[in-house]
Amino acid sequence: MAKNLVIIGGSSGVGLEIIKKAVNLNYTVYNFSRNEPLGINTNSLIHHQHDVLSDTIDTSILPDMIDAFIYCPGSINLKPINRLTKDDFRTDYEINVVSAFDTFQKCLPNIKKSDAPKALFFSTVAVAQGMTFHASIAASKAAVEGMVRSCAAELAPKVNVNCIALSLTDTPLASKLLDTDAKKEAASQRHPLKKYGNPSEIASLAMFLISYDSSWITGQVIHADGGMSIIR
Ligand SMILES: NC(=O)c1ccc[n+]([C@@H]2O[C@H](COP(=O)([O-])OP(=O)(O)OC[C@H]3O[C@@H](n4cnc5c(N)ncnc54)[C@H](OP(=O)(O)O)[C@@H]3O)[C@@H](O)[C@H]2O)c1
Repeated sequence: MAKNLVIIGGSSGVGLEIIKKAVNLNYTVYNFSRNEPLGINTNSLIHHQHDVLSDTIDTSILPDMIDAFIYCPGSINLKPINRLTKDDFRTDYEINVVSAFDTFQKCLPNIKKSDAPKALFFSTVAVAQGMTFHASIAASKAAVEGMVRSCAAELAPKVNVNCIALSLTDTPLASKLLDTDAKKEAASQRHPLKKYGNPSEIASLAMFLISYDSSWITGQVIHADGGMSIIR
């Protein structure tokens, strides 16, 4: 039987790659984002226009049973300490944490109806590794990691809740950091594995974490970061 995936933010970047893989693996995908995912022609993808900052999920349009929930929206708001404002912190917290929790909470009754449900969120390498200009986004993503562990504890043994912590990955979100050959080369050299992230590879990890094969993994922050968080 086809499994149901609810993905928040599947119109670009990692989320779009997840949708491509999910429809090939026979999931029925319910996407919620402001723009429609393009280039995927299948009846197995249902798009709902949705802004996590202003809309509340209409639970009547959710599938009755949700086998996997993935929350992708995030931000890369890099500023030195003297330029960061309270509003920067509030904006980052709103999209990365508050809206993530709110959509997850709304979906949870339907998630609990699945036999082996999975939930997945995204963090950044800048939580584990101190990086200049990351104070606001690192604070928000650290909150995501704490939320993931807490939800994993509260929902065990029913729902597996995990997180992928990325380093710089080639998506629209990171486009300004990778828009010249010089930046791409410098980004590659900064990583122990000498390359920046590929969204399709991240999507493969996400597909594993929502699959039955990850049934003994919960409350984890999995680092997909070219070795950045752990190797000097
Ligand atoms: N790329 C990196 O280098 C990197 C590094 C560390 C962590 N991460 C994290 O990885 C996750 C995925 O990032 P990505 O690079 O794939 O980002 P992306 O290319 O910007 O994709 C983000 C997705 O979220 C959706 N989204 C954004 N704001 C939204 C809103 N207000 N309401 C509804 N949907 C919204 C976007 O769709 P619409 O615009 O159509 O709404 C899009 O589908 C994020 O949580 C990010 O913080 C990424």
